[in-house]
Amino acid sequence: MITLNVNIDHIATIRNARGGTEPDPVTSAMLAELAGATGIVSHLREDRRHIKDRDVLLLREMIQTKFDLEMAANPEIIEIALKLKPDLVTIVPEKRQELTTEGGLNVRNNRDTLRKLCQDMHSKDIEVSLFVDPDEMQIEESLIIGADMIELHTGAYANAKGEKAKNLELNLLLAAATFAHNSGLKVAAGHGLNYYNTQNICKIPYIKELSIGHSIIARATYTGIEKAVKEMLDIIHLNTPKSI
Ligand code: PXP
Repeated sequence: MITLNVNIDHIATIRNARGGTEPDPVTSAMLAELAGATGIVSHLREDRRHIKDRDVLLLREMIQTKFDLEMAANPEIIEIALKLKPDLVTIVPEKRQELTTEGGLNVRNNRDTLRKLCQDMHSKDIEVSLFVDPDEMQIEESLIIGADMIELHTGAYANAKGEKAKNLELNLLLAAATFAHNSGLKVAAGHGLNYYNTQNICKIPYIKELSIGHSIIARATYTGIEKAVKEMLDIIHLNTPKSI
């Protein structure tokens, strides 16, 4: 079965809007777990625009499922991750001006940094996933530098307009997932997935984990986080092929 890792960064964005203590992303993470989420994701950005150091420390203490710390390959954040010991780190490119992570990593151009990052994380039993576009070259490079997993960037699929453009992106994701799996990498996917476009992603063989934030937190503002998580889990369960 495909597992669902819920990204709770936007809860911290709301909290920070007033500089206070509520809503608390740690409480939301606990509620997401109670609703059936199999992992929690949070991105400790260099500028701390949403999740803060206090949050990741508490999340590490509280998460019962799997803690995926999303981060850039930035020396300060690497040091924090090595002390924190999340179950998984997902490495993303990070630009200060972006609203959210915009593109996949250029693994080839950052080989040495990423190879060393993998070695350091593995020395603390932390798995490493690299966030990449559905591009065979970047996937091959991920394997070469020692990553355990890739997360396929689904943003282009999510933003594609019309059936033809969507199918084109789905085919790229299918080819990339197959190539990564056959190369021995675990495969996750995420970015821009919602209650309408996740169905097709679930049908792609070899994608074993989804990382979803914005749509679940947005729906949670209407329904509460437990219902929002459960509704996404229902979509995943209904659309995952029986053999996976
Ligand atoms: N995966 C990665 C690597 C991301 O950077 C993000 C955004 O924080 C997500 C998944 C979740 O994207 P969304 O909020 O669009 O569901």
